[in-house]
Amino acid sequence: MNDTYVLKHKQPSKKDFLDTTEFDQSEILDIVKTAMIIRNYIKAGGTLETLFHKNLAMIFEQKSTRTRVSFEVGMEQLGGHALNLAPGAIQLGGHETIGDTAQVLARMCDMIMARVNRHQNILELAQRSSVPVINGMSDYNHPTQEIGDIITIFDHLPKDKPFDKIKVIFVGDCTQVCASLMMITTKMGMNFVHYAPPSKWLSDHFLKIGRENCQMYGGSVHVSDSPAVLEGADFIYTDVWYGLYDKETPKEVYMREFYPKYQVNDQMLAATGNPEVKFMHCLPAMRNEEVTDSVLDGPHCVAWDEAENRLTAQRGLLAYFGGVAQETLDQIKNKKEGKNA
Ligand code: CP
Repeated sequence: MNDTYVLKHKQPSKKDFLDTTEFDQSEILDIVKTAMIIRNYIKAGGTLETLFHKNLAMIFEQKSTRTRVSFEVGMEQLGGHALNLAPGAIQLGGHETIGDTAQVLARMCDMIMARVNRHQNILELAQRSSVPVINGMSDYNHPTQEIGDIITIFDHLPKDKPFDKIKVIFVGDCTQVCASLMMITTKMGMNFVHYAPPSKWLSDHFLKIGRENCQMYGGSVHVSDSPAVLEGADFIYTDVWYGLYDKETPKEVYMREFYPKYQVNDQMLAATGNPEVKFMHCLPAMRNEEVTDSVLDGPHCVAWDEAENRLTAQRGLLAYFGGVAQETLDQIKNKKEGKNA
């Protein structure tokens, strides 16, 4: 038996995965470890029936590539099935409430994942569902992205550098991805900086969460519009400047505020003074707006690993919240093949 593949995690302290602030550092690390073990196992050619005959309902109030595909492929790789409930395909949003939808889906499916327009919707879903609900992004946060992002950071950590010396900089608008990156990096005791115009800094609500994390786990959280903060960065992260929501501030206004100072380009990477600096992006990207082609296609970019790690993260989350534990992956596999483990 290869110990690398022992899958043995804690019982989740919450039914749902809505917000990483509801989980302490050791629980987040347990989810990450579960995800990494499954990744190693699958990359080594292992096949799984971990969620055999289990169904995941996927509700999308907004479009998605990475979240949709990673959850669907993740369920299939764990032996289960995912239902894509796209906008207009179910009664939700018509004359059925989100609470009634949750109750019905919970009678037929084993888990629900939802990308919602308003955070209140995911809270209501979880409240009325008897099965685990996973937040696939709201206007408040993007916790499954957080798990994929911290796995990507772990994959690319500078050698022998402790967490409390790692500097992660988010450049640009205070999107839910920015807030999420702050929450997960400070939970790991890293140093987080939001580099943006003052009008776009993270709110006091989020900064309070970050400071509480720093008190508990070390690290630091700052906001700044000074390019001096770029120095010594290990990771530079950005997200689109506009286009996330209907009826938002016009593109021209965002461009005036962010361009050219906050574009991630070769000059910005050079300003870190770190030849090994890594570039991250949750994607999709608006090429040559918030990031140049030369960075996105260049040697510092780990955004494609980051996209792949959405799948790594989802498999871990599905196994963790789907009730699989206390068995090894090999035992599960051998049982199916009628062998002794
Ligand atoms: N990063 C992310 O959530 O991508 P999608 O919107 O394509 O799911």
